[in-house]
Amino acid sequence: MSNRYAVVLAAGQGTRMKSKLYKVLHPVCGKPMVQHVVDQLNKLELNELITVVGFGAEKVQDQIGDDSHYVVQEEQLGTGHAVQQAEEILADKEGTTVVVCGDTPLLTGETLQALLDHHDHEGAKASVLTAHAQDPTGYGRVVRGASGEVERIVEHKDADDKEKAIQEINTGTYCFDNKALFEALNNVSNDNVQGEYYLPDVIEILKNNADKVSAYQTSDFSETLGVNDRVALAQAEKTMKRRINEQHMRNGVTLIDVDNTYIGPDVSIGQDVVIHPGCVIDGETTIASDAVIGPHTTIKDCQVGAETVIKQSVATNSKIGKRVQVGPFAHIRPDSDLDDDVKLGNFVEVKKAAFGQGSKVSHLSYIGDSEVGSGVNIGCGTITVNYDGTNKHLTTIEDDAFIGCNSNLIAPVTVGKGAYVAAGSTINKDVPSEALSIARARQENKEGYASKLKSKND
Ligand code: UD1
Ligand code: MG
Repeated sequence: MSNRYAVVLAAGQGTRMKSKLYKVLHPVCGKPMVQHVVDQLNKLELNELITVVGFGAEKVQDQIGDDSHYVVQEEQLGTGHAVQQAEEILADKEGTTVVVCGDTPLLTGETLQALLDHHDHEGAKASVLTAHAQDPTGYGRVVRGASGEVERIVEHKDADDKEKAIQEINTGTYCFDNKALFEALNNVSNDNVQGEYYLPDVIEILKNNADKVSAYQTSDFSETLGVNDRVALAQAEKTMKRRINEQHMRNGVTLIDVDNTYIGPDVSIGQDVVIHPGCVIDGETTIASDAVIGPHTTIKDCQVGAETVIKQSVATNSKIGKRVQVGPFAHIRPDSDLDDDVKLGNFVEVKKAAFGQGSKVSHLSYIGDSEVGSGVNIGCGTITVNYDGTNKHLTTIEDDAFIGCNSNLIAPVTVGKGAYVAAGSTINKDVPSEALSIARARQENKEGYASKLKSKND
């Protein structure tokens, strides 16, 4: 196989987005558009990936990281000029270069591969990915000659009425013979309505050189959507969401309300998981088989074990074991680790807390910065007092301990194995294992006092 390179165009500001956020960083299903593009390109066997950055260069580089080399386009003089910035890295290399815009988040690796195959098969110097658009407004149009061969691409703003009627659009994705690309780019002018150096002009230049150019039309226009404003962003979101959801359903996941389920592109879900309406599941989340999620549950960056049930709750960056019951209305904050068979009930908040197997905290509690053993029962209204105004401190509750309702555990503190804490206690000293600790005012009953009070008031 010949060498393969890719250039991602991501230097534009995206004026039409009317946003502080640079266009290619706008997320679709929780992931920035340019990251979608890079992830799909990474499915091809590439020798090198180069991203052209300009506006928001640092932020784009932070997002993509080491997956790419970067070249900076100081001034945004057009897509042709953008590709030229990669000249110093690529110009004298033999091979094929794929060029993709950073604002086409729905493009798939499969379609890119099909374009490459077409390009190789045709032996072309340039192949453009095209699509048939119901409404081609705004896109470059593919002008074909009498026998159907590609002649050139004309931008919407430069097109005459006849050209505007063409519905075959340039998707902004191309394959080029690398050397031919950089030679042709030197001949691109900015003599057009926008005064920009257009990459698509390379097609006509090569054609006039008697080089072979071709077009590969994909049947799925939705995949090629270029996001230039927030209307298109919403369209991309909808299409991507549908695509992700359908893939999960095909893999054996039940989505009770497919239009009302939001799953990120990097989430993996096992068979026979049921997801109720109103769930948002994203980041690097994995959900094992037979779990039941929702309704109205938000999960980000969590590992959820098999047969676990999470109802109307929020969980972030945590590990949740098998057969765990969460909610309704629980909040699992980052760095929590719930072992198998744990129960976290109504209005329970946990943060940076580990729970051993089978431990239960069923109602109205805050457990933070804590290590809870297995078989522990934490009664309703228990609070770990973890913060002294400056530092956070650890609460340790060892295996099989029982914490009575409405207790405060003032950290740092340890409740030993099998110990009991009486309801209503405020514990600020360690409790030895197997002990009973009572830390509250002793109850005093004044017999007959009620009638005394009543007679006093008469
Ligand atoms: C471009 C194509 C158009 C095609 C459409 C598909 C050109 C001239 N037009 O139009 O034929 O139908 O995409 O979506 O190529 N960029 C830079 N530097 C620049 C200019 C742009 O890096 O100087 C980047 C942008 O960040 C963006 C991409 O190139 O990611 C495309 O630019 P954009 O302005 O969106 O081009 P379109 O008008 O959509
Ligand atoms: Mg665009």
